[in-house]
Amino acid sequence: MAKATHSPDGSDSLLKLISDRGAIEFDHEREGAWIEVIRKMDEVYSDLLRYEVDLEHKNAELEEAQAFVTNVIESVSDILIVCDAKGQIQQVNSALQRTLDRANDEIVGWRMADIIDAADGAKLMSLLKPRSPSEVVDGELRFLTEGGSSDLFAINSSPRHDHRGRFIGVVLTGRPIGELRRAYEALHTAHQELQRVQRQLVEQEKMASLGRLVAGVAHELNNPISFVYGNVHTLMRYRTALTSYLDAVHGTSISSEAAALKKSLRIDAILEDLGPLLDGTMEGAVRISEIVKNLRRLSLSKLGEFDRVNIEPLINTAVLWAVRTKQVRLDIHMDIEADLWTCGNEGQLHQVIVNLVENAIDATRGTQEPRLKISARRNQNEILIRLSDNGPGIEQHNIGRIFEPFFTTKRVGEGTGLGLWISYGIVREHGAELTVVNAPEGGAIFSFALPAA
Ligand SMILES: Nc1ncnc2c1ncn2[C@@H]1O[C@H](COP(=O)(O)OP(=O)(O)O)[C@@H](O)[C@H]1O
Ligand SMILES: [Mg+2]
Repeated sequence: MAKATHSPDGSDSLLKLISDRGAIEFDHEREGAWIEVIRKMDEVYSDLLRYEVDLEHKNAELEEAQAFVTNVIESVSDILIVCDAKGQIQQVNSALQRTLDRANDEIVGWRMADIIDAADGAKLMSLLKPRSPSEVVDGELRFLTEGGSSDLFAINSSPRHDHRGRFIGVVLTGRPIGELRRAYEALHTAHQELQRVQRQLVEQEKMASLGRLVAGVAHELNNPISFVYGNVHTLMRYRTALTSYLDAVHGTSISSEAAALKKSLRIDAILEDLGPLLDGTMEGAVRISEIVKNLRRLSLSKLGEFDRVNIEPLINTAVLWAVRTKQVRLDIHMDIEADLWTCGNEGQLHQVIVNLVENAIDATRGTQEPRLKISARRNQNEILIRLSDNGPGIEQHNIGRIFEPFFTTKRVGEGTGLGLWISYGIVREHGAELTVVNAPEGGAIFSFALPAA
């Protein structure tokens, strides 16, 4: 069939074509009908041509819009992944391609599980799960890269639904948070460290001011106690002299008046009492002056000479010493590495161990099978010394007070409350901190770390 040429508006070109041929005869009526049909066809044809032009316009606009959307998606720095309902990747943007270091064609068609770290499988499941249109799910994923795992990405997953409301997949967007997370963790650690140092400073300040107070009191007590002590000594001498004299006087016959006075004043009973009274006073004076001496030694004098100290014999002698003075049966388990040396004052460190062992002995008195474990180990540049007993441990409300001077839960005469305070001071002078915790299985654990020499 010959091709129809048409004028710009598309009119009468078909009419012309048919009349050009001139091969068909029409009677008048039928000719009218045919012309009508041809006119209609002509109209339809020109409509068609108009639609085609419109369509071409629309196509061009569509292409432009698509290029715009693609350009926007590609320019977004966040990663973008479009998946179907089974988790198969349908489209990704170049941010993801850069992260994975792979081209778009390589990635499309893979399953999501193929591009993420295997450890994040469970998180991926929740990001891909079918759900209602408004339900956005958050998660964190690591992608698999050439070099292993990528940084951590914060992912938002939005569900996609078709026009009938059926779930057809998800759109995942994400941005790296590794840097942020690391910065946050560093901040958190620094904050905790700050709090710890602050607590330690408060504790040290408390101890230091208590120390000053105690030093002042000890200084004030030193004078009176030394003359009480001296006077009691003199009084004891006087008593001996007086008793011998009175014995001599009473040996000879005395007047009946004097004998009556002696009886009414109960001179014999007084003479008998005098000895124990003075002995008791003397014992009290000795105890007070011991306490004062202890306080003054620690408060006023700095530690003596520092020297190399071998830990194993130090602990062995201190334990022997403590057990001998307390005279008790206690199962002591020693776990001490050989050849551990620190730099310090041997006498003072000896006293610390004696104090701690004595406390453990006191604490385990009511225990069926009293036990004390002492260990000393090297840990890098430190020697960690630990004493753990199976006593009742320390009551929670006392745990912040046991290092205070004069804090004791023992009966009068059994404890001075100075042992731990003195030990705390000595350990601190050695550049360490004496700490205590209650063991989960019961009992107290005292520990400190001396610098290794
Ligand atoms: N191993 C321990 N188990 C339980 N409590 C302890 C232990 N060591 C010390 N304590 C508690 O700490 C207090 C203070 O001890 P310390 O300063 O040595 O003084 P003291 O032994 O004279 O009481 C003790 O009275 C006791 O309550
Ligand atoms: Mg004690």
